[in-house]
Amino acid sequence: MKKVKNIYHHYTFSLLLVFLVLILFHPALSTYVNTLSSSESLTISSKRTLVSPGGVFELGFFKPLGRSRWYLGIWYKKNSWKTYAWVANRDNPLSSSTGTLKITGSNLVLLGQSNNTVWSTNLTRGNASSPVTAELLPNGNFVMRYSNNKDSSGFLWQSFDFPTDTLLPGMKLGYDLKTGRNRFLTTWRSYDDPSSGNYTYKLDIRRGLPEFILMNGPHEIQRSGPWNGIEFYGLPEVQGLNYMVYNYTENREEITYSFHMTNQSIHSRLMVSDYTLNRFTWIPPTPGWRQLWILPTDVCDSLYLCGSYSYCDLNTSPNCNCIRGFIPKNQQRWDLKDGSEGCVRRTPLSCSGDGFLRLKNMNLPDTKTATVDRTIDVKRCEEKCLSDCNCTSFATADVRNGGLGCVIWTGELVEIRKQAVGGQDLYVRLNAADLG
Ligand SMILES: *[C@@H]1O[C@H](CO)[C@@H](O)[C@H](O)[C@H]1NC(C)=O
Ligand SMILES: *[C@@H]1O[C@H](CO)[C@@H](O)[C@H](O)[C@H]1NC(C)=O
Ligand SMILES: *[C@@H]1O[C@H](CO)[C@@H](O)[C@H](O)[C@H]1NC(C)=O
Ligand SMILES: *[C@@H]1O[C@H](CO)[C@@H](O)[C@H](O)[C@H]1NC(C)=O
Ligand SMILES: *[C@@H]1O[C@H](CO)[C@@H](O)[C@H](O)[C@H]1NC(C)=O
Ligand SMILES: *[C@@H]1O[C@H](CO)[C@@H](O)[C@H](O)[C@H]1NC(C)=O
Ligand SMILES: *[C@@H]1O[C@H](CO)[C@@H](O)[C@H](O)[C@H]1NC(C)=O
Repeated sequence: MKKVKNIYHHYTFSLLLVFLVLILFHPALSTYVNTLSSSESLTISSKRTLVSPGGVFELGFFKPLGRSRWYLGIWYKKNSWKTYAWVANRDNPLSSSTGTLKITGSNLVLLGQSNNTVWSTNLTRGNASSPVTAELLPNGNFVMRYSNNKDSSGFLWQSFDFPTDTLLPGMKLGYDLKTGRNRFLTTWRSYDDPSSGNYTYKLDIRRGLPEFILMNGPHEIQRSGPWNGIEFYGLPEVQGLNYMVYNYTENREEITYSFHMTNQSIHSRLMVSDYTLNRFTWIPPTPGWRQLWILPTDVCDSLYLCGSYSYCDLNTSPNCNCIRGFIPKNQQRWDLKDGSEGCVRRTPLSCSGDGFLRLKNMNLPDTKTATVDRTIDVKRCEEKCLSDCNCTSFATADVRNGGLGCVIWTGELVEIRKQAVGGQDLYVRLNAADLG
């Protein structure tokens, strides 16, 4: 038994030696290392980096041009123009060019000039007697796991749980309901300053239906609208692409959005910047990123341009229109093409003798005052709305298969948009006198 162990040790030792020689004398080869073991470190001075298998992503230290502060980050390796996907210590940069990334106990730590901890994975649980390894995966996820555990579900920590301003394929935005963590995007403060900016893109689950909101500090700028089973109406994602699919998942464990590439030679990323959300795609052999879309796209994307009970339509002038059965709340301002005060009912609801106006091709109103029941169909939904005197509107929650589930609004209808094509039916409650 002892002999076997000795031979084994001998073997590992020789292997290590060969490895060391390779690393020392073949810098080209050493760049293709993607793991950091507990006996190794990355330092700024060594210029050593980790490269993901496949060579798409690189992890290491960087210093924005013209700045004197250092960050640990992940960027696209193949781009001549550095495109950063993740930054570890964005709000706590290294102020000198002395910095070390290493594994201490069961944590990844970034040490500064005086060995002060600038950044850490902060794990409290962990098995100190089990060595851990950090690894940059092909999809750009920097993960930490027990060295003896190659099972991909066994991550102790992953950078995908701590997004910067970029959503990569396979990375999830939204809630992990088991840990309570809401993963969201936060802008860089400026193009050469990775510290947290004022704009975020995050999932809001306080609404009747969850949706993503672009925010400037506490102010909402743009809403995605709820997932309708196929898409978020408020995101101009192209449907039916042969290289990318979108995934929204809502269950007991998570409420998340992600996208995946079905053709691995094509790259795409979602990025939040000041005022805007962007999707960039890079389709080799064409060099460089192309902006697939940017939000806001048009005037109807401006939040609260048209007030309650009015909808925005790009094909009308002015763009704000009162729903039939409603009249401008402030005719003077309405005539000056200011629709922000919205519209009011011509005839109050009577509760018992009301009916519904069907509006086609609509984006659903804000669901702050809505509730959802996924078990009933549109017919039952109508009955449910009629039997509740506070109900102002209803729609199906999932447009697939002719409509499933029921959304019911009990307050004012705000933030409605009419599309030229697409959208869905919205049923608005009116007094019978206004239905005519
Ligand atoms: C930092 O730690 C390293 C390794 O433990 C040690 O060699 C070095 O002297 C320390 N530097 C300072 C400034 O304490
Ligand atoms: C780790 O904990 C420190 C102290 O509580 C905190 O300042 C830091 O932001 C944490 N780091 C991460 C990556 O969460
Ligand atoms: C820690 O790791 C050792 C060796 O892998 C194992 O025997 C032990 O059960 C682990 N302890 C815990 C608390 O997971
Ligand atoms: C972010 O918001 C704060 C507070 O509103 C403001 O003082 C600051 O100038 C903003 N920063 C940027 C980069 O816009
Ligand atoms: C969507 O994501 C969920 C959870 O992240 C996963 O279980 C499911 O397989 C994914 N669906 C597709 C079609 O990729
Ligand atoms: C994937 O995309 C590349 C680059 O556009 C293209 O050359 C290749 O044919 C695509 N592969 C498949 C299977 O569609
Ligand atoms: C209708 O709204 C009123 C006022 O908000 C509330 O007091 C009442 O309970 C609501 N009725 C139902 C059936 O929800």
